[in-house]
Amino acid sequence: MVLYFSGTGNSRYVAGILSKLCGDRLVSINRTMRERKLDPYNAAYSFQSDGPFVVVCPTYCWHIPRVVEAFLLDSRFVGSRQMYFLLTCGSGTGQAAAHAGQICRKLEMEFSGLASVRMPENYICLFRAPDADEAVGIIRAAKTQVETLSGQILSGKPIRDSNAGPAMPELLYRQFYRHFVHDRRFTVKDSCTGCGTCAGLCPLVNISMLHGRPVWGGNCTQCQACIAACPTDAIEFGRRSRGKRRYYLYASGLQKFPPEPSQPEHFRDN
Ligand SMILES: Cc1cc2nc3c(=O)[nH]c(=O)nc-3n(C[C@H](O)[C@H](O)[C@H](O)COP(=O)(O)O)c2cc1C
Repeated sequence: MVLYFSGTGNSRYVAGILSKLCGDRLVSINRTMRERKLDPYNAAYSFQSDGPFVVVCPTYCWHIPRVVEAFLLDSRFVGSRQMYFLLTCGSGTGQAAAHAGQICRKLEMEFSGLASVRMPENYICLFRAPDADEAVGIIRAAKTQVETLSGQILSGKPIRDSNAGPAMPELLYRQFYRHFVHDRRFTVKDSCTGCGTCAGLCPLVNISMLHGRPVWGGNCTQCQACIAACPTDAIEFGRRSRGKRRYYLYASGLQKFPPEPSQPEHFRDN
């Protein structure tokens, strides 16, 4: 079973290819989280698979995103005890494999390794996204890499991170979340049409539309979906995002937007 979390489509793209190559089911963590938020009676979920579980998500500050960590620790995995991680990244993953290993230990799963797949940088609240030509080249290389990884996963072999780097000091990691992972600087320009794309995409249901304008509710993971997918580029993050190219894989013409998997692949844990 391939479970993915994705802000701007990169991890979703990688997960989609992998699930096809492995003939495995695809589960959207975004969608599952949204369902949990929208239904107050939704408790933890269980996922059942005879084959390994593969978690595909972006790298945040050389770690698994906290929101994905919380989701995994809140879920139950039935069947296979093997868990792989594929982290999409703009440049490097630090010691994300150690983080993934810790999560597996807490879940009592066998950590089968982490590999990183370089995809276009999406973090425009801090950095710059590549132009379309560069992005296409990066995505092509990623596809080839995922094909190799799918073979390793299908044969049950451990996988390794070729982009690993030094470990991030815990203090720096905590400071990153404190100073950068919030929604306090989001503003909306007059070009906002009130279409609600931002609110519809937010995996944490953190955006509500008030008088035709998005309002952020204070529970943001900085996935970049709202700012990147806005059809009129009406959202800014203070001055940091001004004048920067937005990157959203399925809105950029680089890929056609595939539908979300239609059947939820989880069942409720009573
Ligand atoms: C909050 C945040 C932190 C990020 N930190 C890293 C990082 O530490 N290393 C890296 O290579 N890329 C980093 N990135 C870039 C993303 O990991 C990368 O573009 C990823 O493919 C985005 O995937 P998605 O479209 O599925 O969300 C970061 C992006 C965001 C939004």
